Amino acid sequence: MKHIILALAGLALAVGPACAQQASAPAGNVENGKTLYLQVGCYQCHGRAGQGAQMTGPRVSRTEFPFESFLFQLRHPVNQMPPYEAAVLSDQDAADLYAYVRQMPAPRDPKSIPLLNGTR
Ligand code: HEC
Repeated sequence: MKHIILALAGLALAVGPACAQQASAPAGNVENGKTLYLQVGCYQCHGRAGQGAQMTGPRVSRTEFPFESFLFQLRHPVNQMPPYEAAVLSDQDAADLYAYVRQMPAPRDPKSIPLLNGTR
């Protein structure tokens, strides 16, 4: 029993800082993020509303990625996305982009779109 309690305490210590880190995304400038989103071409694959498209790239609006993962995807994309190195896009630019995509409007509920519900 004592071992289990010690193990749980250890787990809490290990998880605690990870959560604290996630909460501390650097402050970003939404306006500049919007400018960059268009300037460096994110919109070409992810759409102007960040909605994504089957053939070009996934939805990025309101991303739930923590900032570290978002930045990692920009620097080392996993698949088809082109890399954005620090010389092209600084960490602060990435923070601005992050702030911008995080505050994009939520997609509409499909039930509220008549065309998708056979009521038109
Ligand atoms: C040429 C097309 C293209 C461009 C330009 C592009 N992306 Fe991507 N993006 C992708 C594709 C395809 C993926 C799927 C994973 C991969 O290929 O790395 C992706 C994945 C992502 C993801 C992870 C989403 C998820 O849920 O897995 C994020 C976040 C992202 N892109 C942000 C951006 C931002 C911000 C920019 C502009 C700086 C950008 N992308 C530019 C094609 C693109």
